[in-house]
Amino acid sequence: MSHLVAPSVLSADFGNLQRDIELINNSDADWFHVDIMDGVFVPNISFGFPVLKAIQKHAKKPLDVHLMIVDPDRYTQQFKDAGAEVLTFHLEACTHLHRSIQNIKNSGMKAGVALNPHTSIHLLEDIISDIDLVCVMSVNPGFGGQKFIENTFTKVAALKKLITEKNSKALIEIDGGVDLNNYKKLVSVGADVLVAGNTVFGSANPTQTITQLKQI
Ligand code: DX5
Ligand code: ZN
Repeated sequence: MSHLVAPSVLSADFGNLQRDIELINNSDADWFHVDIMDGVFVPNISFGFPVLKAIQKHAKKPLDVHLMIVDPDRYTQQFKDAGAEVLTFHLEACTHLHRSIQNIKNSGMKAGVALNPHTSIHLLEDIISDIDLVCVMSVNPGFGGQKFIENTFTKVAALKKLITEKNSKALIEIDGGVDLNNYKKLVSVGADVLVAGNTVFGSANPTQTITQLKQI
């Protein structure tokens, strides 16, 4: 499978949200990456269900929803109803990982687990076969436009090895600071999904930048 590109809506122009969603619809992008922040798990608040539903109304590609919230289990069904196809929560925000994953799958979504930069991939050893996606945070979650953490390359390579050894089908997603200088190396060490916010929406020609991020 060639890698997927998921522009992050967090960096879109919220005054022109429909325009930016249609830009992604008409581009080479594969998914919409949608960041939900609660101001507790991370030091920022993004948006909630009304905005997510507005995105759902116009989006013609899968919604990849990244929860940066405490107690994510409370909202599984609401995110399903708001159009999430992939629902990812943070390992650090969750006590009963296996239960949370099963809840998401039972609701008919793909289940993702996100890891903060300091969190070891080895914590997933006993559960990797049940996960559809691992989101490797390559910045500290909470904000777009931050600097990429270089240790991510080593971490992704180790995660890829674990996934292969355990015969898991989990996709590896990279989130934070992905740009035109590091994306090829990320794919070469095992990345399957590249999230890009600032690199896409901060560029002069977002459509062209998405096309560039698809090229290897
Ligand atoms: C950060 C979010 C990211 C963010 C990425 O906490 O999870 O998805 O939007 O933005 P960039 O690509 O600008 O780092
Ligand atoms: Zn994200």
